[in-house]
Amino acid sequence: MHGVWYETAVFYEIPVHAFFDSNGDGIGDIAGITAKLDYLEWLGVDCLWLLPFFPSPMVDGGYDVSDLTGVRAEYGTLDDVRALLHQAHTRGMRVIADMVMNHTSDQHPWFLESREPGSAKRDWYVWSDTPDKYPDARVIFVDSLDSNWTWDETAGAYFWHRFYAEQPDLNFDNPQVRAAVVDVVRFWLELGFDGLRLDAIPYLFEREGTNCENLPETHAFLKELRAAVDAEFDERMLLAEANQPPVQVVDYLGDGDECHMAYHFPIMPPLFMALKRQHTNDIIEAIKATPPIPPSTQWGLFLRNHDELTLEMVTEEDREFMYREYAPDPRMKKNVGIRRRLAPLLENDRRLIELLHGLLLSLPGSPFLYYGDELGMGDEYLLRDRDGVRTPMQWEPGPTAGFSTADPASYYLPIVATPGFDSDTINVLNEMEDDTSLLNQIRRLLDIRRKLGVFGTGGFELHASDDPAILKFSRSDATQSVLVAANVADRTVQVEIAASMMAVPGQGDDSGTFIDVIDAVSGEPVPATIDLGPREFRWLIRRPD
Ligand code: NOJ
Ligand code: CA
Repeated sequence: MHGVWYETAVFYEIPVHAFFDSNGDGIGDIAGITAKLDYLEWLGVDCLWLLPFFPSPMVDGGYDVSDLTGVRAEYGTLDDVRALLHQAHTRGMRVIADMVMNHTSDQHPWFLESREPGSAKRDWYVWSDTPDKYPDARVIFVDSLDSNWTWDETAGAYFWHRFYAEQPDLNFDNPQVRAAVVDVVRFWLELGFDGLRLDAIPYLFEREGTNCENLPETHAFLKELRAAVDAEFDERMLLAEANQPPVQVVDYLGDGDECHMAYHFPIMPPLFMALKRQHTNDIIEAIKATPPIPPSTQWGLFLRNHDELTLEMVTEEDREFMYREYAPDPRMKKNVGIRRRLAPLLENDRRLIELLHGLLLSLPGSPFLYYGDELGMGDEYLLRDRDGVRTPMQWEPGPTAGFSTADPASYYLPIVATPGFDSDTINVLNEMEDDTSLLNQIRRLLDIRRKLGVFGTGGFELHASDDPAILKFSRSDATQSVLVAANVADRTVQVEIAASMMAVPGQGDDSGTFIDVIDAVSGEPVPATIDLGPREFRWLIRRPD
């Protein structure tokens, strides 16, 4: 296997309060994650991504940070974080944290100081006498806000915020702010984190006459940040959270001198569209619209995460289609997206859940799994904001779900109760014991992915298909080639694989004949033409010598 660690890693996303409660107060914590490392190692993930665990009034799930170098008391202490890092590293696992730098909480001491008249920190945030500046910047939380400006009585001025009014934007034009942010990055990397997810990174700077996203100043700052990280640390990773069209996302990788990774937002909605349209045109379009990326950078692929399934960057027509198909109850909509988890979105259809995982794990990039999706956990979309997809992890059957020793009525959020998704039906314990469970199947796929090696860094080639329901591509490196064939339609399709699996001239066998192929999952031999059942996918490899 080649490449830097993050090019081949499987990531696992954890909201700290949701995973496991170690001290019986009904709130998951850092020590709870440490206590569950056995499970994560058994599952076969390589890197944990911890959502913000800093002190926070929790208006935005912890993305409203009131102390950038502290730990929220409910989650534990810095020593707990050190212990988690140590235990994970001992097992060969890595851990990344969220780095929220675009904004702080309005309770952060910097903001409290900034709003005081005559304050030395006045210029640390973005103030204005009128709410009229930067009219071309869109509002992101459209369900709750109609302006990016809010009046502050103490300051006697309006302040700028791209998210909730409780999240004032820092002023990156101020060199002191930039230096303070770099210090925070340094703090967490020194503590031992292997990387940082840079939250809301397109919005750092504001300029009149622009939409205030992806500005050249933002990229200049990211290059400075990257240089600082490279100068002081080895093998760390910066991940861009930029929900932008392909050409803008790729800019966050710079010439290999900005972030090491960026989420591949543009390919996510097409994966869901394909299942309903029963053709792969949208996926193929998204792949073709994806520019090449610099060496040693990598895409972060995901199906779902702790936010709504975002539809901000798709066309009006696709957005309406997605709402129609995936948000039959209008209350499932949130901002410009859908606040549901993977399994309920896919009507708990095992074939669909496995199919999307088959693609998530084999398309170019490093996959990000969202906690609980490996079980097929459900959601409670009527909960506030995006809380419905952040409910307690279901470890065991029964009323506590094995999440905590506290009274479930006092949990930070209720356990999913929707029939079919309740903790008696969906839980780690039962699924671990059942060889046919989704959990065991995902674990097998992760294991095969690791052994194949080629999905992380191998080349990618799209193969033409006669039938629009079929997505066919290969992933190859010097030693092997894997053909991926997926049928997004609800009917059986004959797929010719011989042409794609000819011995490659110059690579050992140059006979140009159909090579000996087996299914990577079942190990069964595969003929030159196969029947791909409804919603079926296959990973096909050359039989090992
Ligand atoms: C992106 C995060 O994923 C989301 O949860 C948060 O609300 C915004 N950034 C603001 O920090
Ligand atoms: Ca706790």
